[in-house]
Amino acid sequence: MRITPNNAGLGARVEGIDLSRALSPEDFRTVLRALGQYGVLCFPGQDLDAPALSGFGSRFGELEVNVANLFHAEGHPEVMHLSNMKDAAGKPLGLSDAGQGWHTDMSYSKEIALANVLHAKRVPRRDGKPIGCTQFRNMHAAYDDLPAEVKQRIEGRTAIHDFAKFWDMMRIRPGSIRGPLTPEQRAKKPPVSQPMVRQHPITGRKVLYCNSGYAMFVEGMDRAESDALLDYLFRHQAQEKFFYEHEWNEGDVLMWDNIGTLHNAVADYGPDEPRFILRVQVMANLDYAALAA
Ligand code: OGA
Ligand code: MN
Repeated sequence: MRITPNNAGLGARVEGIDLSRALSPEDFRTVLRALGQYGVLCFPGQDLDAPALSGFGSRFGELEVNVANLFHAEGHPEVMHLSNMKDAAGKPLGLSDAGQGWHTDMSYSKEIALANVLHAKRVPRRDGKPIGCTQFRNMHAAYDDLPAEVKQRIEGRTAIHDFAKFWDMMRIRPGSIRGPLTPEQRAKKPPVSQPMVRQHPITGRKVLYCNSGYAMFVEGMDRAESDALLDYLFRHQAQEKFFYEHEWNEGDVLMWDNIGTLHNAVADYGPDEPRFILRVQVMANLDYAALAA
């Protein structure tokens, strides 16, 4: 296995490994450590079906089945389809607006996610250049770079995160096929409290765990003060120096750290520019410090 870091301070390419075969314990540990260190790992040239992607992802933790998962692989509800494509009858083949807007998956859940693993089958291109990129921000670096007094202000603090914030933001977009959350879906995803600073389970370092997609307000603060603090943090984390953009290729498996990064899907492709991606969500339910040691 060869790991080549990007210059961006985030992201690395991992080559010389076939993810359709079971990872050796040593390779598993190398990948886990690289995930913490680089945040976004691209394994180019892979060819996985739904069971194989599920098998790789589940090495790292339990796979989530989303309450609002409308599109998934047959017999594999944990393997979601992200796509703007339609079948011959005009029926959508995947969720077409996934992740458009900065967010961290599962921050709205008491049990948070370790990682996402996406596998690109179709990638849109315009003039030979990939479009529909996925963007990331480095929350290890964003935390380190905070002024000491802000670090102090958010230490030990919690914020309320709400699944409905992102859902409703996607829902009001023109052409959205998302309906209102049903009372059952809503009941399964009540707002939750999250620490604003977390110790990353792989690196042991502190990360800023607060994203504009789901974070509503800081607990125990009056609303104006909370709004001002969140606004400050959201602008801080949006700086260019924390940014990295992944340009997709067919066959890429992209695995990203969902504790130490934020992400955003760029919706710059049209209905006639097909994109198709398989996705699993790895929950953070193992002892990663021990596994990475
Ligand atoms: C996700 C997501 C981004 C993309 O899978 O959680 O936000 O580029 N997807 O499809
Ligand atoms: Mn996402």
